[in-house]
Amino acid sequence: MIDAFKTLGRRGLFLFDAETAHGLSIAALKSGVVPTCRVRPDQRLAQTVAGIRFENPLGMAAGFDKNAEVPEALLKLGFGFTEIGTVTPKPQSGNPRPRIFRLVEDEGVINRLGFNNEGHEAAYRRLAAIRGQGIIGVNIGANKDSGDRVADYVAGIRRFYSVARYFTANISSPNTPGLRDLQGRESLAALLLAVLSARDEEAAKAGRKVPVFLKIAPDLTEEGMDDIAAEALAHDLDGLIVSNTTLARDGLKDAVQAKETGGLSGKPVFEKSTAVLAKMRKRVGPALPIIGVGGVSSAETAMEKIRAGADLVQLYSCMVYEGPGLPARIVGGLSRLMDRERAASIRDLRDTRLDYWAAKKV
Ligand SMILES: Cc1cc2nc3c(=O)[nH]c(=O)nc-3n(C[C@H](O)[C@H](O)[C@H](O)COP(=O)(O)O)c2cc1C
Repeated sequence: MIDAFKTLGRRGLFLFDAETAHGLSIAALKSGVVPTCRVRPDQRLAQTVAGIRFENPLGMAAGFDKNAEVPEALLKLGFGFTEIGTVTPKPQSGNPRPRIFRLVEDEGVINRLGFNNEGHEAAYRRLAAIRGQGIIGVNIGANKDSGDRVADYVAGIRRFYSVARYFTANISSPNTPGLRDLQGRESLAALLLAVLSARDEEAAKAGRKVPVFLKIAPDLTEEGMDDIAAEALAHDLDGLIVSNTTLARDGLKDAVQAKETGGLSGKPVFEKSTAVLAKMRKRVGPALPIIGVGGVSSAETAMEKIRAGADLVQLYSCMVYEGPGLPARIVGGLSRLMDRERAASIRDLRDTRLDYWAAKKV
């Protein structure tokens, strides 16, 4: 029944502008109109990453549920985990609308939302009310007008420590001017020091260590990747998320929408984000967890991220085109790929195409 989305739901939603359609999707998930998708538990897909037991490797990426309105409904679609945010300390409205654009022929999305969100308190209250056991990560950022961006990330760690299963420090949105500068070596060292010290203090108080991941852009030079890898390893970072949206506009069919300012995601970013993922895996070695994200649209593309070096995978944009049945289809498809490969654990397939992807020019 959930496949009815492809004919009825998608056609209906595509009558609206992309942001209104997104609001309707959130409302549908909240109301329970979207049915639960049962995925058959498969121990071959389960693994422990950064100390957390994931039942399957597919997560909802940040940006879909910015204000923590529907994390449990998303988990019921078959995702093994979901990430709320990006949340900033103070509420902010983001850039003027329209600010999300569908590139239908390319199965891509361009957004320049600019961290519109209801702020820490609203998201915290919703997360604190949840009683379920599902894995919900909290993606933290800085307000546009912040005088001290590092302090905003630290505030995120402190505010959400009791409710987050993991944190993502998002320093790679292209839509907050200057934010990506935090990826530069000195700024990154200062950020990681402050964020991880705050985490360690909170861990000592709570008696529980919550892992912190760093989410990076796909638009990096080889030297930029070297710097991030060196800092990730020099600090006690728990993992990387590769990647956010791209500023590149290569090979797009929709030349009109391609001119919109913002970050491009969906199928057009698959190649680039997967290559950067492999290049980062080469740099950080086998032990550091990496979550691969960008253009995942099927079990095959999810598996390709794992073969390129990812432990876990996330998606967002392709759900706009494929609908709410996509996570369950991907997780079921991963089980079938495991049969075909005769693999005992999905971990065994990680890095099996690392060299191929790491050799690509980006
Ligand atoms: C409309 C939209 C909003 C997004 N907002 C955020 C965000 O708030 N924080 C973040 O870290 N990433 C955000 N992202 C990036 C996604 O989490 C993801 O990294 C990127 O879109 C690539 O994955 P995809 O091709 O599966 O969408 C957003 C993406 C889209 C399309």
